[in-house]
Amino acid sequence: MRSMVEGFPLMLQATRLDKTTLEAAKHTRQTGIDGICLVGMGGSAIAGEICAAYLSDRSTIPVVTFRGYTMPPFVSERWAVIAVSYSGYTDETLSALKSAQSRGCPTFTFTTGGDLEKLAKDTPIQKLTAGFQPRAALPLILSGILPLLETILGLERTDLQSVAKGLEEMSKDWQNTPITPRQLAKDASGKIPLFVGWKHLAPVAYRARCQMNENAKVMAFNSELPEASHNEIEATASCDEFPLLPVFLRSTEEDQKTQDRFEATLEIFSKNGCNPMNLELGLHPRIQEALGFTFFLDLLSIELAELRNVDPLEVKRITELKKKLGKTT
Ligand code: PA5
Repeated sequence: MRSMVEGFPLMLQATRLDKTTLEAAKHTRQTGIDGICLVGMGGSAIAGEICAAYLSDRSTIPVVTFRGYTMPPFVSERWAVIAVSYSGYTDETLSALKSAQSRGCPTFTFTTGGDLEKLAKDTPIQKLTAGFQPRAALPLILSGILPLLETILGLERTDLQSVAKGLEEMSKDWQNTPITPRQLAKDASGKIPLFVGWKHLAPVAYRARCQMNENAKVMAFNSELPEASHNEIEATASCDEFPLLPVFLRSTEEDQKTQDRFEATLEIFSKNGCNPMNLELGLHPRIQEALGFTFFLDLLSIELAELRNVDPLEVKRITELKKKLGKTT
């Protein structure tokens, strides 16, 4: 798993949209749509979350994510649906794609194969490279769905090659970051991490939590500002009862209001004995920052798994549940 995660920058350059998908995307753009819905679960969902947050200031139509069986009613035939399942066997994703097909939505599918490939036949299917854990395939998936989204939306394409180059440079020398993933894993050992993000770093905080759950097999939580100022902050009153490690993901894009909010929140967390830390990587532009944090925090989950002597590859309980529900792969 370590080598998969360390291959993040390389994988970010891996998926090239095939001709059929690209033509269908251009056609969808010309026809005109009311919105785009990205469908997927777990590791297959997160690339969509990151893209939706990244594009939120540029898209003039809603780009939303959906995790579940039946598409919400607002997804009409004038919505494009992008279904992602790395294995191609995820029940919820299969069911959601069926509901999109029955509504006549233009659909796009990303998978390595499985039942999803069969279900999506006759529509654009982008095959993903097999052999990874779904959650480690995030850069593979993102390198396909981001250009797809940008084509459908008529936006300038993000240069993922130079983003990948930047990530490669950063990972050569983690000593240039204020803390290395290994040092942070040591600090997180025996604690319950709480990742707090803002704007495009909110899905990154969520991803970090999931990686801690699945790779390191530890409970972890995520939240986002400004919303956390209206609820979670009250729970700091109980910080001395729980070994929490709040990690605030600080963005170089924060405006003054957001900075003030972060600082005030940190003060309250500290005053209540929660020992929060600021994680600043000093990255920009936005996509570099979102993916740089993701890469760093993915490595954190591997370091923690190794410290805890658990196998980051195995997901015994997810497999057990899928078996119980009749899905074996
Ligand atoms: O990372 C994982 O292994 C899981 O979170 C899976 O992504 C999740 O169970 C969904 O499976 P798939 O990505 O194959 O659709």
